Amino acid sequence: MSTPKNQFSPRIFSGIQPSGGLTLGNYLGALKRFVEKQNEGIETIYCLVDLHAITVWQDPARLRDQTREAAAGFIAAGIDPKRSILFNQSQVSAHAELGWIFNCVARMGWMNRMTQWKDKAGKDSEKASLGLFAYPSLMAADILLYHATHVPVGEDQKQHVELCRDIAAKFNHDYGVDFFPITQPVIEGAATRVMSLRDGTKKMSKSDPSDASRINLTDDSDTIAQKFRKAKTDSEPLPETLEGLKDRPDAKNLVNIFAALSDQSPTEVINQYAGQGFGTFKPALADLAVEKLSPIANEMKRLMADPAEIDRILGDGADRADVIAQPILARTLEITGMIRSRRT
Ligand code: AMP
Ligand code: TRP
Repeated sequence: MSTPKNQFSPRIFSGIQPSGGLTLGNYLGALKRFVEKQNEGIETIYCLVDLHAITVWQDPARLRDQTREAAAGFIAAGIDPKRSILFNQSQVSAHAELGWIFNCVARMGWMNRMTQWKDKAGKDSEKASLGLFAYPSLMAADILLYHATHVPVGEDQKQHVELCRDIAAKFNHDYGVDFFPITQPVIEGAATRVMSLRDGTKKMSKSDPSDASRINLTDDSDTIAQKFRKAKTDSEPLPETLEGLKDRPDAKNLVNIFAALSDQSPTEVINQYAGQGFGTFKPALADLAVEKLSPIANEMKRLMADPAEIDRILGDGADRADVIAQPILARTLEITGMIRSRRT
């Protein structure tokens, strides 16, 4: 992890939308790394970005449930709410306030180039919410409100973190300050882009209509095993080298998942299974996934039985986040020329 060239001390921030259940993609691409960073002893702040979730319609009761479920998923996966700050975005109003300032820094052209905007708004962008368009600007606010230096994310978020760097640089330049850090994305590991189990060319996603396309962190052991057994593959045995997976997206995806779950490199997995068919590899992968994921599902179930405790943890996290965020927001407003004369 290289540190940006400025005065900022290392601080990690990342977020996940509570717009559906957590998937194996979220776990391997994001959550598992969040835990690693926490355990390396770096200051870590993790956020359930409910304000981002409502950029597309969310049923209010479901949003609340999904936010609690995501919090339970974080804790079950190893986030310690005492060592990390864990909270939901809307409880710290400074996110929305800094988001507005950044809406006035970011350019329409920058937003128009975002591939996630193009994918999500599709052909009918006239009907997309204004919030969906401004989404990356709020994401920059999430990160820069804490002067975060590093942001662990999956591959699909790289462009948004680069936009955050552009916003920080433009703000610093326009106001003649060196106030916001130029944050680094951290995209590491064997599974930075976990693909659908039904189509190795599509990202595994909580919004895919097919439940068989993804592993949910709440799936029980039988469901996990069955989904891997039924995962789409070709009929060739596994190759001798990684290059042999080049035009085999489904096989490559399963090898990457195996590698990430077992903390090995894809090459190590290939060395172990070269020449073997999926009749051998899939059951081994299913066993490994059940071994790693079912304790998380069980712990989530236990935690979700006490929603009041989850709300308490999120409230405590929000209080601690606010202590860091408020002075940075106040200084930002001062820099931009806003009068700050209230006594309370
Ligand atoms: P989201 O669910 O879109 O809020 O994503 C939360 C985090 O999980 C982000 O860091 C994403 O990059 C990561 N993520 C989501 N889906 C995947 C996937 N299929 N593979 C790897 N990372 C993912
Ligand atoms: N846009 C991210 C996603 O969909 C979620 C997110 C919001 C985020 N704010 C963030 C990720 C800040 C990292 C840092 O995955």
